[in-house]
Amino acid sequence: MISSAATSVRGAMAGAAAIVTKRFPGDTDALALLERDHRRFEDLLKQGEDTSERAVQGRTALLDTMTAELTMHEMIEERVLYPALKAHPQGKDLALEGYQEHHVADLLIKELHDLPKDDERWGAKFKVLKENLDHHIGEEEGPMFRTARGLFRREELQALGAQMMKMKAQAENK
Ligand SMILES: [Fe+2]
Ligand SMILES: [Fe+2]
Repeated sequence: MISSAATSVRGAMAGAAAIVTKRFPGDTDALALLERDHRRFEDLLKQGEDTSERAVQGRTALLDTMTAELTMHEMIEERVLYPALKAHPQGKDLALEGYQEHHVADLLIKELHDLPKDDERWGAKFKVLKENLDHHIGEEEGPMFRTARGLFRREELQALGAQMMKMKAQAENK
């Protein structure tokens, strides 16, 4: 059931998965998928720190990309990984903290959309977003993913990964 779902998703995900497959061939467990997204966010966050005239003109496009990808990432974490963790006493607090950190990132992103892109506060606010997300990614890849590896067997992480890919594909096809 799960492996056939993963296979049917593969075609629909071809575009997004192409980049991903190149770096980590075949690795579709939930944590590997999320880590690949994290590397992408680090890249986008680095781009946003640029304050050159050209970069300032590109801020709206960068923010739109960041918003779309982060919304998807938060969705698969909040609907797949976090509930799985929350069901275990060892994972519950980590998941609860994760939801709150997403909430803070969402607020900052909303404010960045509302602020004129050449406003002197934009760069400072973006830096705060970067610091928040760097921290959040560190907490996920540190204590949270370590806990998940302890709680779930490899096949369970694969099944969670398949659910995430399916959810992403469905959202992208809407
Ligand atoms: Fe994440
Ligand atoms: Fe997260």
